[in-house]
Amino acid sequence: MTKDEAKKRIEKLKETIDYHRHLYHVFDKQEISDSALDSLKKDLFDLEQQFPDLITPDSPTQRIGGEPLDAFEKFEHKKRMTSYYDAFSREDMDNWQDRNEKLLSEGEAQKIEYYCEPKLDGLAIELIYIDSILTIGSTRGDGIIGENVTNNIKTIEAIPLKIKRKEEVIHNLEKKGLKSVADKIRNYNFREIIVRGEAVITKSDFDEINKEREKQGLSLFANPRNLAAGSIRQLDSKITAARHLDSDVYSIVTDMGQETHEEEHLILEAMGFKTNNRYNKLCKNLDEVFEHYYYLQKKREKLPYEVDGVVVSINDNKIFEKLGIIGKAPRAGIALKFPLLEVTTKVNDITVQVGRTGAMTPVAILEPVSVGGVIVSRATLHNEKEIKRLGLKIGDTVVIGRAGDVIPEVIKVFPEFRIGKEHDFKMPKKCPTCNTELVKPETEVVWRCPNKNCFARKIKYFNHFISRSAFNIEGLGGRVVERLIEEGLVKDPADLFDLREGDLILLDRFGEKSARKLVLAIQGKKIIPLSRFIYSLGIRNVGQKTAIDLAKIYKNIHKIKEESLENIEKIHDIGPIVAKSIFDWFHDKSNLEFLDKLKEKKVWYSGNDEGGDKLKGLKFVLTGTLPNYKREEVESIITNLGGEFSSSVSNKTDYVIAGENPGSKYDKAKELGVKIINEEDFVKLFK
Ligand code: IVH
Repeated sequence: MTKDEAKKRIEKLKETIDYHRHLYHVFDKQEISDSALDSLKKDLFDLEQQFPDLITPDSPTQRIGGEPLDAFEKFEHKKRMTSYYDAFSREDMDNWQDRNEKLLSEGEAQKIEYYCEPKLDGLAIELIYIDSILTIGSTRGDGIIGENVTNNIKTIEAIPLKIKRKEEVIHNLEKKGLKSVADKIRNYNFREIIVRGEAVITKSDFDEINKEREKQGLSLFANPRNLAAGSIRQLDSKITAARHLDSDVYSIVTDMGQETHEEEHLILEAMGFKTNNRYNKLCKNLDEVFEHYYYLQKKREKLPYEVDGVVVSINDNKIFEKLGIIGKAPRAGIALKFPLLEVTTKVNDITVQVGRTGAMTPVAILEPVSVGGVIVSRATLHNEKEIKRLGLKIGDTVVIGRAGDVIPEVIKVFPEFRIGKEHDFKMPKKCPTCNTELVKPETEVVWRCPNKNCFARKIKYFNHFISRSAFNIEGLGGRVVERLIEEGLVKDPADLFDLREGDLILLDRFGEKSARKLVLAIQGKKIIPLSRFIYSLGIRNVGQKTAIDLAKIYKNIHKIKEESLENIEKIHDIGPIVAKSIFDWFHDKSNLEFLDKLKEKKVWYSGNDEGGDKLKGLKFVLTGTLPNYKREEVESIITNLGGEFSSSVSNKTDYVIAGENPGSKYDKAKELGVKIINEEDFVKLFK
């Protein structure tokens, strides 16, 4: 980026961040997630680092938080209440360390240790105790002037209204074997003690309050931080009290002789404060910091409150002070955030992807970015209508999120970042793979490639057919399927069952052993339960749930084939669009031919076309290995046809099916005179 471009972008970033911060701090409202806002801030911070002379005093990186609300009495902090900048990666942390080390002497740099603590996602507060009594509680505000919210803070049970007197603090420290710390504070005056911490709300209280609000038709709080902030800044303390806030303190502003951040935490505990000490750790270097970071990331789910990262501070207070403040934050501290689930990035292009049913899905090609710890370079845009709804142009700055933590999607567009080079996306008229003209019925939003032999569609369908919820064929990854089609070895998935080891060895990626393994894996999946069989057909709009419903209702494929559209529509949970997809699929000649082909190759579902109860009342036991059926398949055939499958032989057993290498069940059957049959006899029983 040129300096001129950077300047323009910095201006836009500043405006946007300021708008959202103002909304959040002054009106307790949010239009974008914390995560997305953090991402914008990081973007600005990085650009400013690249062009330091573009940093202005009004930049959001240079000041903290919001303006105090007029409704509260203003409160001027004795010492500026700073915050920390964010880091998201090892690289960010290494850079931070390098910057600091350059400002220190060699001896100091060598002495650096890091104190790490969970970063609670709440509202920063300051507490002033005079003669051990809580006298003023305030919010951070803009760091210099906050709001006096003493009455509300007094409702928080975790905050002591009275702290321990000096002798007791010293006694408590000594009792814990911390004599050296006790000695340091002995000569200090305890008259006024200022501490800082975070007011938080537990995740369970957050859920409960939101549930209650939903019942009452009130707007919901976006996250626990939002709720904590909204609760502390209530004019009526009764409401604050009802919200059951919690709190942890993490620093002492007053000079009590403490020399390290760690000591501050020990003194706070001895004074009777609630701290997070058991999750805090003194680390010797960044490797240890990351070890603790990963530990806390794992613990995160189990903690009662929301934690969004690890606060890392240089432990030695002298070094901390020496490094000074830059912008809104001390140089000596940093907030190492957990991976963001929503981040901002740029859309470099939009392409279309051809789906299994020929559906064309526009996909945003992104400037690669880490979302939830995974580098993402593509995000789905669903369809043309969605692009219109978002108002997205190629070149736009956007927010990316991972829906349900899996598929990245574009959540929001920032038109304010446009520089005039952006342009609209045009849906292609022809399939990018096979060049067939795309079609879209008036009533639908999705364009489709109608060519069933389109290579892209074919690959998608193969992958669907072999997927875990369908035929579940392991070892048949995407590229192998492509090669098999390219080599003309398979035209449709039914052909997979004809593959032999030699065919696979022809493809460069197979050895004898792996080829045999794959052939066996395919052959072992010839019979699957009906629901999975229906799902594997890839009928448009038929997902796993509908496939299970259809299997339960019809019990065999022919009955579905012969069903009227009206009757399919009557099925609970199946609407007219899904019903029509099912009906149409079974009235398409090529689909029926595909079904016949599968059947011919004995690739079918367990049970029988007539369904019903051919094996009703009969008890079976299996021993040894059968040539064509796996144990689960035998079990599912028997139970589907009304029989009973048991694991031990008794005189109630009707048949013992014996395969190769039978076990003791075979002898038992002989002993009891139970009929012993082989696979062929078994198949005759139900075919
Ligand atoms: S110690 C000057 N420890 O995170 C900030 N801060 O990015 C004091 N925070 O706004 C750093 N939990 O309000 C510290 N255990 C913790 C914290 C914590 C949350 C907040 C703090 C500050 C921000 C730092």
